[in-house]
Amino acid sequence: MALKLIDKILEGIDKLPSPNIVVQRIVAVCSKPDASSSEVANTLMMDASLSARVLKLANSAYYGIPRKITTLSEAVMILGFKTVRNLALSVFTYDMVFKNRSSSVDRERLWEHFIATAVASETVAETVGYPLKEEIFIAGLLHDIGKVVYDFLLSEILEMEVKIAQKLKKNLIEVEEELEVPYHTEVGAKLLRSWNFPDLLVYSADYHHNVNANPNELFLNQVSMVHIGDVLANLMIRGASLSWGDPVLSPFALNALRLKPRVVLKILERSKKKYERAKEFLKLD
Ligand SMILES: [Fe+2]
Ligand SMILES: [Fe+2]
Repeated sequence: MALKLIDKILEGIDKLPSPNIVVQRIVAVCSKPDASSSEVANTLMMDASLSARVLKLANSAYYGIPRKITTLSEAVMILGFKTVRNLALSVFTYDMVFKNRSSSVDRERLWEHFIATAVASETVAETVGYPLKEEIFIAGLLHDIGKVVYDFLLSEILEMEVKIAQKLKKNLIEVEEELEVPYHTEVGAKLLRSWNFPDLLVYSADYHHNVNANPNELFLNQVSMVHIGDVLANLMIRGASLSWGDPVLSPFALNALRLKPRVVLKILERSKKKYERAKEFLKLD
């Protein structure tokens, strides 16, 4: 069964909504080492509705800027172009999550899980002193995008998995394993690769449940940050990820980042506070 399903997913991935040209261009510009903030602002300006929603987020409590930001170039100047790129990607991901309304999957809760994971992963990055925390925010935001692919292409299977997970108090990945269906992790990684998104995002989607399965340990530290962010997000909002088992923290990931469990508890408390300030991300219409 798994083989046929993966074929169906691979065929379907191309027909899913993909980042529009403006978002694609922003991602490309930001992965260049010589990226410039004016390039980012000028690209964003080509899409008025995206720009307006980015400005709304830039003015949210999450960033705590004391005065109102009214233009994109100001937002880029104050927040940095990586954060502005993240805001554009958040708007796009929000639209993708909510575009498919035919299944009974609780998309509002799933979106809460995406934001909670982005915030918690970013907090892990800050705590371990990783300099590119914006990359970890977006890796956290997109880690479970495979569940959205399932919701679009194989919603009846996802609905069944969620029912089983809820009834037997299991995690979705365990149910996927038992049913021998493709993992949401590999499905998400395939989608992000098809969009030519940076490898860090692909690896975080692929290995966030199984950090030590990553064969060459590429992006090991970053994937570990997303893994811990995901576990913390599951503790913050139980069931929102469509998983109902106990979140399991990987000792391998803790080791990679040299994090002690008591520090992780502190990160949890900090993430909860930051999540409270991230409410504007939850209503992006
Ligand atoms: Fe997951
Ligand atoms: Fe997750």
